[in-house]
Amino acid sequence: MGSKGIEIVGMDVKQLLDLLNKAFADEWLAYYQYWLGAKVVKGPMKEAVIAELMQHAADELRHADMVAMRIIQLGGTPITEPKQWYEATGCGYDAPNNPFVEVILNQNIKGERCAIGYYKKLLEMTQAKDPVTYNMVLQILQDEVAHEEDLQSLAEDLEFMLKK
Ligand SMILES: [Fe+2]
Ligand SMILES: [Fe+2]
Repeated sequence: MGSKGIEIVGMDVKQLLDLLNKAFADEWLAYYQYWLGAKVVKGPMKEAVIAELMQHAADELRHADMVAMRIIQLGGTPITEPKQWYEATGCGYDAPNNPFVEVILNQNIKGERCAIGYYKKLLEMTQAKDPVTYNMVLQILQDEVAHEEDLQSLAEDLEFMLKK
């Protein structure tokens, strides 16, 4: 925690910390959803889908790391109890109970769309108020936009394949 670094934040730091902890919970749940999805997924194009899900899982874990570091910089504490992820989450968790590729892809597309919406909101809230958080959120948002596109193009290929 650095005093001057916190002083330059032109918004309510406590409120910002709550918003960041929400993102932190979302990232862990997204990580787990991808990680487990990659283990259980079945069906056509399985290998390509597994590779993508594993890559995304690694990205979500990296996002959790980035958000945790920023929370600590701001004098806060990242959620210490995993059971609190469920209370804090905005985008939730979709258990991969149905392992069919199409279902797994759609669950994760839904998650990415939620993440894009949330980070866009966070970007607007921090713009011109907290450049450090803004910059971090922008980097994460860029990844989430790429994630949605990766999954959607896999889902399109799968659709072609299933129609033949
Ligand atoms: Fe993420
Ligand atoms: Fe993502």
